[in-house]
Amino acid sequence: MVTKRAEHGYRGAVSRNDRARSGGAPPGRDRDLLRWNARYADEPPRFRPHPLVDAAFDAGLPQGLVLELACGRSGSALALARRGRSVVAVDISDVALRQLGAEAERCGIRDRLHLVQAEAQAFDTGANRFALVLATLYWDPAAFRIGCAVVAPGGLLGWEALAATQPRRFRVRHGELSAQLPGGFQVLSEELVRTGTRATTRLLARATA
Ligand SMILES: C[S@@+](CC[C@H](N)C(=O)[O-])C[C@H]1O[C@@H](n2cnc3c(N)ncnc32)[C@H](O)[C@@H]1O
Repeated sequence: MVTKRAEHGYRGAVSRNDRARSGGAPPGRDRDLLRWNARYADEPPRFRPHPLVDAAFDAGLPQGLVLELACGRSGSALALARRGRSVVAVDISDVALRQLGAEAERCGIRDRLHLVQAEAQAFDTGANRFALVLATLYWDPAAFRIGCAVVAPGGLLGWEALAATQPRRFRVRHGELSAQLPGGFQVLSEELVRTGTRATTRLLARATA
C-alpha cells in the first residue's frame, strides 16, 4: 500500500535547511557542491545498498524513521524504503537528490523518501528522532555529533568513512568512530574494511539510553 508522505511522521523543515546551506556556507563547501554535482552529472548511478543496511536489520532495527546523511544517490535509502521504511535523505548535491528521487519514483516508493538539500553539519532535524542514522563514505565530526544526538533510544547508528593513518578531511582513523561516540551507545561492531586499495572504517552501534 502506498501511504502519503504526511503519514510517515517526519516533520521536516526543508526550506530552513536549504537556507542553512546557501547562507554563509564556508567556501570549501560550495566547492564540494560543485564538485559532487559535476561528478553525479557525469557518472551513471548504480543505486547499490550499503552492507550496513542488512547489518542493521540483522542486529534488530526498531520501527521508525531513518535518517541518511550525505546520502548521494543512495541505494541504501531505496532499499530501506522498499522494506517499508520512511527515509529522510540529506545531501548537499541537488543533482544526486534529483537522481535519487527519479529512481524512487520509477520504483513506486517516492512517497517514502523525504529529500533534503542541506549540509549534514547544519541539518536541523527538529523534534524527530530516528530508528537508524546512516552515513556511508562520509566523515565530518560535527555531522557525526548531530547523527549520534538524533538516534532514538534503542535505535542504531551505522557509519562508514574512509580510513586514514593521519587525520585528513573526510577521513578518520580506524577506532575513532567508536571513540567519538557519546555516552549511552553500545558498539555492536567496528571493522576495518579493505576493498582493493581502499580502506574504510565501519561502525554499527545501538543507543541504549
Ligand atoms: C563519497 S560520497 C558518498 C555518497 C553515499 N553516501 C555513498 O555511500 O555512496 C560523499 C557525499 O557527501 C556529500 N557531501 C559532501 N559534503 C557534504 C556536506 N557538507 N553535507 C552533506 N553532504 C555532503 C556529497 O555530495 C556526496 O554525495
